[in-house]
Amino acid sequence: MSQVSLTIDGIEVQAVPGTSVLEAAKKAGIKIPTLCYLEEINEIGACRICLVEVQGARTLQASCVTPVAPGMVVRTNTPAVRQARKLNLELIMSNHPQECLTCPRSTNCELQQLASELGITEIRFSGANPSYEPDFSSAALVRDPRKCILCRRCVSVCEKVQQVCAIAPQERGFNTIVAPAFLEPLGDTACVNCGQCALVCPTAAIHEKDQTAEVWAALSDPGKHVVVQTAPAVRVS
Ligand code: FES
Repeated sequence: MSQVSLTIDGIEVQAVPGTSVLEAAKKAGIKIPTLCYLEEINEIGACRICLVEVQGARTLQASCVTPVAPGMVVRTNTPAVRQARKLNLELIMSNHPQECLTCPRSTNCELQQLASELGITEIRFSGANPSYEPDFSSAALVRDPRKCILCRRCVSVCEKVQQVCAIAPQERGFNTIVAPAFLEPLGDTACVNCGQCALVCPTAAIHEKDQTAEVWAALSDPGKHVVVQTAPAVRVS
């Protein structure tokens, strides 16, 4: 198949037509930060963290959903790009609880990691922070909608990989929530506790239930039978 030739940060890159600028940059060894993107699973341009400058375009473009074009000139690390990424992440974090010290994903959180990489030291904005309650109804998973950044990775993996469709975006605007239909408890749905959603969640919005107490109870009472659920692996780009 004939290749498209473009320039990214001064490097000439060849890519198959239809390839995203993000993937073409990755091939050239140029890292563009992402948050909502999961290769071939969730390519919806939701978070706007992967913005780049495309010569001739009037606005910054989300590289994960922008296809390469012949002669395209892309810049991934200009002051305007860095400022826009930082602003977008600040806006996402303005609606996220500042509970890192007590969060089960602390030090293993993509949001936290990205904030550090982009040099965010304060959140200048205050979001609506809807007061949804955590959902502990599942045998293996905890849903904490307050920590959801609406990247929809969990929705895509549940639908396209597991073909279960247990969760989807509900409500609108600041009240948007990823949850089972009619906001039913996760434990009352067709969810099979595979854990794929927790594996791809960039925060602790869906995380594995801590079963340490049950395991210790079983160890101290050999007669007690405890089932501990674990999540199988999924490819994360
Ligand atoms: Fe491209 Fe989220 S990674 S918009």
